Amino acid sequence: MLDFLNYYLYNGQRKKKGNQKMKDEFLEILKQVKREGIEQLINFLEKSDFFIAPASTRFHGNHEGGLVEHSIKVYEILKHKVQNCIQTIEIPEESIIIIGLLHDICKTNFYKIDYRNAKNALGVWEKVPYYTVEDTIPYGHGEKSVMMLTEYIKLTPEEKYAIRWHMGYTEPKENYNAIGASYTKYPIALLTHEADLEATYLFGI
Ligand SMILES: [Fe+2]
Ligand SMILES: [Fe+2]
Repeated sequence: MLDFLNYYLYNGQRKKKGNQKMKDEFLEILKQVKREGIEQLINFLEKSDFFIAPASTRFHGNHEGGLVEHSIKVYEILKHKVQNCIQTIEIPEESIIIIGLLHDICKTNFYKIDYRNAKNALGVWEKVPYYTVEDTIPYGHGEKSVMMLTEYIKLTPEEKYAIRWHMGYTEPKENYNAIGASYTKYPIALLTHEADLEATYLFGI
């Protein structure tokens, strides 16, 4: 029994360390951004659940720290895409950081843990935690990220469009024309959508 307990304690600590490492990495990258208001934005993130939130309830990154992990991965893929794009894309590194790391800031204070009854391996009923949505700022998704960010920092048009339309054609079809026009006008927005998909489906985070 003690071994069993130790195993869980050990794994819990390992997870915490992993989350701390991700948080440190995230902040190290974000602090390269020198823009008015960035410190206040970081303060907000620190006080919120951003660094322990999952990236989704059931799909990609549905574990503690999943949101930070997903955001770093999107940033890395986006950077790679910009550098290797078939078309030259002139965009400051600062914009790639803001778009990649903060496109899903809308998921801050968005999930909560609830419990349901389930049978364990021994056939005994027990309470099992799961993530559910409790949207404290019901303002959409990409548009909500833009709204939240602009409360702290000014965004360039490229940053706004890339974050607004990062969900691509999973948006309602009434938005397809605007999405297409935005991707033509700001190719970084298209690359952001692709990077988001690749983090989710190629890396599972
Ligand atoms: Fe998203
Ligand atoms: Fe995302």
